[in-house]
Amino acid sequence: MQYRRLGKTGYEVSAVGFGAWAIGGAWGDVSDDDAMVALNTAVDVGVTFFDTADVYGDGRSERFIAKLRQERPDAPMVVATKAGRRLDPHVVDGYNAQNLTAFVARSLKNLKTESIDLLQLHCPPTEAYYRPDVFEALDNMVTDGIIRRYGVSVEKVEEALKAIEYPGVSTVQIIFNAFRQRPAELFFREAKARDVGIIVRVPLASGLLSGKMSRQSSFAADDHRSFNRHGEAFDRGETFAGVDFESGLDAVEEIRPLVPEGATMAQLALRWILMFDAVSTTIPGARNAEQAAQNAAAADLAPLPDQTMEKITEIYEQRIKDQVHHLW
Ligand SMILES: NC(=O)c1ccc[n+]([C@@H]2O[C@H](COP(=O)([O-])OP(=O)(O)OC[C@H]3O[C@@H](n4cnc5c(N)ncnc54)[C@H](OP(=O)(O)O)[C@@H]3O)[C@@H](O)[C@H]2O)c1
Repeated sequence: MQYRRLGKTGYEVSAVGFGAWAIGGAWGDVSDDDAMVALNTAVDVGVTFFDTADVYGDGRSERFIAKLRQERPDAPMVVATKAGRRLDPHVVDGYNAQNLTAFVARSLKNLKTESIDLLQLHCPPTEAYYRPDVFEALDNMVTDGIIRRYGVSVEKVEEALKAIEYPGVSTVQIIFNAFRQRPAELFFREAKARDVGIIVRVPLASGLLSGKMSRQSSFAADDHRSFNRHGEAFDRGETFAGVDFESGLDAVEEIRPLVPEGATMAQLALRWILMFDAVSTTIPGARNAEQAAQNAAAADLAPLPDQTMEKITEIYEQRIKDQVHHLW
């Protein structure tokens, strides 16, 4: 495993972390045993960064992580959770000190801890980034000691660029992968200049970039890859990175010959992300031990050759860019 600085948080975290959405809910059935084995495997192979949210399985994911901390008291861990999505309706005025404090109190209970390592706003409406009072509320929570650091999880590059103007914002979580390349254009440079840690989510484009899917693939009714393909429940960009499934499959076939010998396509997808040194960590979701181990091992692959990097850019430009670049 490689370890990288998480920007100005002062934390040093594994370059491949663990995305704990799938073990919470919205990805079909994942048993308690599979979830705990996946988490323990991640610890065994050197993963130290865990990303969850209060809404993943309505707290189920946070509670698994609390259990992991109890079972592995000596393992170094940085746990990031998120707040905001319990708001109903999900509106900017809900992002106030009172609501955020209540959400954090619930997460502290689920996570069985006194203070949250990293709290992220959970893709708030764009307007929240133009409301200094939201960030003041977060600063006050740091002063009160209920959170140690905070950051934002964003949908759009523009939101990320605005968020990092607030000095208390230590991290930005954003979608970045071979099918979502825009963050590398300007945002990475700006974040680096301000020492903001970058957490890359949806690195496998919801599994599409693992190369295991086909036109015949089907998903359970309670898996967002069934129910959110067109953004029916939340932002469309969160499902298959916003790429139309069938054209994504065609692009995947063009990427397949680039997989290094002895590696898997999922590992190529993750290693591609880690080629960008502005990235602190990437957080693939894993629903079993095998995925957790395979994903972590991607950090140990040799750097990808220039020709591979160039070819992936070319595939993006020819097949994907028009679908996504202007949207996020
Ligand atoms: N708004 C937000 O802040 C937000 C939104 C989305 C995600 N996130 C965070 O980012 C994390 C990662 O994103 P994600 O989980 O949406 O997408 P992802 O990491 O791109 O895809 C994860 C899925 O890919 C499949 N997979 C994982 N490893 C694999 C491997 N080695 N080989 C083959 N298939 C593999 C698994 O599903 P199957 O086995 O079922 O195919 C897994 O659930 C989440 O867990 C969450 O922590 C945050």
